[in-house]
Amino acid sequence: VCQERIFSGIQPTGIPHIGNYAGAISNWVRLQKKFSGNILLSIVDLHSITLPQDRDQLWQNILDMTACLLACGIEPEKTILFQQSLVPLHSELAWILGCLCSVPRLQRLPQWKEKKSSVKEPSVGLLTYPILQAADILLYKSTLVPVGEDQTQHIELTRDLARAFNRLHGTVFPECKMLSGEVPKIRSLRNPTSKMSKSEANSKSRIDLLDSPEVILEKCRKAVTDFTSEISYDPEGRPGVSNLIEIHMAMADLTEDEIVEESFLLAEDTGMYKMRLAGIIAESLAPVRERVIAYRKDPDFLTDVLKEGAAKASLIAEETMEDVRRLVGF
Ligand code: ADP
Ligand code: NA
Repeated sequence: VCQERIFSGIQPTGIPHIGNYAGAISNWVRLQKKFSGNILLSIVDLHSITLPQDRDQLWQNILDMTACLLACGIEPEKTILFQQSLVPLHSELAWILGCLCSVPRLQRLPQWKEKKSSVKEPSVGLLTYPILQAADILLYKSTLVPVGEDQTQHIELTRDLARAFNRLHGTVFPECKMLSGEVPKIRSLRNPTSKMSKSEANSKSRIDLLDSPEVILEKCRKAVTDFTSEISYDPEGRPGVSNLIEIHMAMADLTEDEIVEESFLLAEDTGMYKMRLAGIIAESLAPVRERVIAYRKDPDFLTDVLKEGAAKASLIAEETMEDVRRLVGF
């Protein structure tokens, strides 16, 4: 019997890029095999509204993210895939945990310091969303949370809040651990010293899962490399070329040894390598793209998937909350 429960969330930001795919989505698909039945994946729309959202766009983004996750191999029979806001218990637990958390504790979090300066009048939600994140995890008594290193402080906060609750009211929550496995970091095609991100204004800096082979070729062709045309892997000294190799490994699912044969022996120079890589990316994304397009035509199906997932998630969440409410004194 599997003793672990895995929780992960992704914001509905629309069509993911290959960085999201290599760094998060394909990892979940791997974890789904190992932890089938014990893994939850939430489209965290409540987190999205910490910053202003357009209503129609937000809904489209929720559907698109769902389509992409299914297209990439998330199976609702193995992973509880659901829309966060359909399980209102997330908000209820967040409120209770929020009453155990000091304001300075939140103000010390690095992401708050970063994000508050990005808006003129930061909302309460932007300050307290790490508490909601803790609630997301603890609501399912999750033990493993696959997230990036940038989430370390938030997982620490989650553990602190779990401990605080257990001490004050009675033991309900387990200690959760970060599951920061070997996931690649894909960098921007235009600024190869920073990560590939939706927030980079230039859309040519990233490849999205729905990009056509022509678009992929164009983006690869214009990827920033250096003035040396030979190919070598040196992330510090040659971030551009090394990033292409990282992308190659991730998209073709190759090990470091295999990549040496593929790219270094076959390709003649960076120019040719970019063309070759564009073909490899396009080929590996073709079936994903096809499925995304098909799913997108059936929003009712996608809505049902999210609702059915929410019903399953609610069963687990309600059990936790019954204990929580009783112990608090409600
Ligand atoms: P973005 O920066 O594009 O907004 P998010 O911050 O929404 O991406 O991240 C969503 C998920 O994708 C996270 O799990 C994050 O670790 C992963 N991720 C984002 N960008 C990359 C990247 N360039 N390389 C690897 N993983 C990434
Ligand atoms: Na981001």
